[in-house]
Amino acid sequence: MTTQPDTSTSTTPLWDEAQRRDTAAPLTASARGFATDGTVHLNGNSLGPPRADLAGELASVVHDQWAPRQVQAWFRDGWLDLPRSIGDKLAALLGAAPGQIVVAGETTSTTLFNALIAACRLRPDRSVLLIEASAFPTDLYIADSVARLLGLRVVTASGEDFDSCLRGNGRHVAAALAAPVDFRTGERGTIGRTAALCHAAGAVSVWDLSHAAGVLPVDLDAADVDLAVGCGYKYLGGGPGAPAFLYLPTRLHQEVDLPLAGWHGHARPFDMTRTFEPAAGIDRARTGTPPLLSLVALNHALDPLLDVGVPALYSRSQQLSEFFLECLERSRPGLLEGLVSPRDPDRRGGHLALRVPDAERVEEALAERGVLIDSRPPDLLRFAFAPLYVTYEQVRRAAQDLCDVLEGGQ
Ligand SMILES: Cc1ncc(COP(=O)(O)O)c(C=O)c1O
Repeated sequence: MTTQPDTSTSTTPLWDEAQRRDTAAPLTASARGFATDGTVHLNGNSLGPPRADLAGELASVVHDQWAPRQVQAWFRDGWLDLPRSIGDKLAALLGAAPGQIVVAGETTSTTLFNALIAACRLRPDRSVLLIEASAFPTDLYIADSVARLLGLRVVTASGEDFDSCLRGNGRHVAAALAAPVDFRTGERGTIGRTAALCHAAGAVSVWDLSHAAGVLPVDLDAADVDLAVGCGYKYLGGGPGAPAFLYLPTRLHQEVDLPLAGWHGHARPFDMTRTFEPAAGIDRARTGTPPLLSLVALNHALDPLLDVGVPALYSRSQQLSEFFLECLERSRPGLLEGLVSPRDPDRRGGHLALRVPDAERVEEALAERGVLIDSRPPDLLRFAFAPLYVTYEQVRRAAQDLCDVLEGGQ
């Protein structure tokens, strides 16, 4: 590959190449269905744009269901079924059979709290809660809190040390919490191997799928995962504060004791009985009255992901991120020395991270140019390649703007 600087106007080889790929790539048409308004959204691992017809979908629920029927709409418009029916859509994206995922209407943090306590309660005779040292802060905080509540000891370890801990001291581990994608670096881990190590040690395997759902192939059933949670607002596109999901396989339904025993998880919620009796199946993992409009938005966001399918989404995301690196390599190859994500696309999730000085200032300067990314302290820029709405031309533009900003051209 050439390292000649590319001065990138609308006549450069990279511009031509982006146009060619956009014309040829079948997913580019779907980008037009999003309300991107000329902005480049490389922040879909935080919060990407809505689909252009979301407002109409929400308005119709408000005008045609809520306004005329109020509380009756819960029963007559299928609102009460949404936590489970959205769960089934997610199951199709995450390699799970139906009836094992629910969107109760909670945050990822609350859902993780629920999952981790339930996981540890499955191994009451064990003393350790194992978590990756590189986990997202909320996961570490919740793990600490769960450990305090249950009298456990938190052990943090990363990468090979995490697996070694399971091999060497696994008999003490009640539950092990990991993520298939590192939220900072985008590095991808292997769910199946770690879940198998957990099971060999008799530990419960819990996963935070926030940075994987909607972009990465995940086979929850085949990998024998015990519990998993994930955000609804990242690649799933459910919108600001979209509720999280919980995966609980059928084999654990009878056994599990979820701490958030809310009335919507009761076998007969409207009997209003004094004692909690868990509902059959995944409904037992529901909690209270869910945020209906947020559920509608998440439900609406999942359809194009299902239409395209995970293999095509993943491959598209990989191709976009590779094109981004190709653009940087041509325009400013030295920048790639700051790449903290694996260079091999098969070892990355949907985003990649570059180390640069003054990352926050660079993020702001790019935002002024209409290129949205995010930074993580102290010096990381993260670029997410959400497959449904990012185009090659936007990737080229983002790479060019990044080079300009770093050269002081902001
Ligand atoms: C990996 C991961 N887990 C958990 C969370 C927290 O989610 P919530 O704010 O919905 O509780 C985030 C938020 O970005 C995250 O990236």
